[in-house]
Amino acid sequence: MKEAFRRIYGAYPDGVWAAPGRVNLIGEHTDYNDGFALPIAIPQHTLVAARRRQDGRLRLHSAQGDGPVIDLHVERLTPGAVTTWGAYPAGVVWALREAGHRPGGADLHIDSTVPTGAGLSSSAALECAVAFAYNDLYGLNLSAPALALIGQRAENGFAGVPCGAMDQLASACCAAGSALHLDIRAGAHEQVPFAPETQGMSLLVVDTRVKHDLGDGAYAALRAGCEQAARLLGLVALRDLTPADLHGAAAVLPAHLVPLVRHVVTENARVTDAVVRLRAGHLAALGPILTAGHASLRDDFRISCPESDLVVDTALAYGALGARMTGGGFGGSVIVLAEEDRVEAIGAAVTSAFRTAGYQAPHLFPVSPAVGARRIV
Ligand code: GLA
Repeated sequence: MKEAFRRIYGAYPDGVWAAPGRVNLIGEHTDYNDGFALPIAIPQHTLVAARRRQDGRLRLHSAQGDGPVIDLHVERLTPGAVTTWGAYPAGVVWALREAGHRPGGADLHIDSTVPTGAGLSSSAALECAVAFAYNDLYGLNLSAPALALIGQRAENGFAGVPCGAMDQLASACCAAGSALHLDIRAGAHEQVPFAPETQGMSLLVVDTRVKHDLGDGAYAALRAGCEQAARLLGLVALRDLTPADLHGAAAVLPAHLVPLVRHVVTENARVTDAVVRLRAGHLAALGPILTAGHASLRDDFRISCPESDLVVDTALAYGALGARMTGGGFGGSVIVLAEEDRVEAIGAAVTSAFRTAGYQAPHLFPVSPAVGARRIV
């Protein structure tokens, strides 16, 4: 990273920062409903080499795009002004200004191993790596959760994606060997031990290669539906509803909102249940919770796709403990929890099922819970 930076900008960077992508174990579409989630950071991460500038210019370069250096000015950043990948790093600097900080200029060189469009939060990884870099470059003294919320603000206000805070909190706050139990309303998080490999198990990620795009309106529509349901029920957010309230809520709501609400309410309960199981050391008991979460996303929230369903069904048929789509939906990745000695057969079966169905070959890789964003050089 240091040499690449020097080739582009003619000097060495002040430092290099890293932030990981994530998979969510359970708790999908609950974050913007003030609820719970349980993500882990994955080893794939984004690196940012950065150097302070005194003149307010913000220059951006990515090893992934072969485009030229994007040349901006910190004081002239406005939403809509950058429409490429540069909107994420520029958005972070904009969000810092919006929050009352005085970030100056910088040269940034970015490289990443987080696949894009795979539902693994490549944009949150980019935002967090840049936020952590700026925090150090300009001595802002912001905490990891505060930097995560700057990343979310960048995505909402600058890149125009109305996401919740889960992805950025996962990238910023996760710890190795743990899942991150998020309580969004309380602004609280705690680490829950999660180390499948120590119990003879493995967590497999299957990237279906169906590109998902949260900016295309479907995500915003789901979020609006949940918020409308909360309003109609006189609640601040769907977080305030328990499974016991569902029957009464269904009597009040228009029919099309009922399954949305049912997903959010049962999903919050699944997160709580999963945390209890993990704290008790019953990792295998997570399996049925994952599978129930998938059914809820498929049947109630209706954001799965045939490819993701095929992964889940095939994995279960070949002995997986549980499987579900992870992330925003409409494609992206599936996670499979399985005993270590089943993983190979499951992977082969999924690949072969995709071939038979005429789908693109999926990408499969095991993940262990990795560390969150940090300075590495
Ligand atoms: C995307 C969003 C998150 C969250 C998930 C669904 O990843 O960025 O905020 O809403 O979808 O759980």
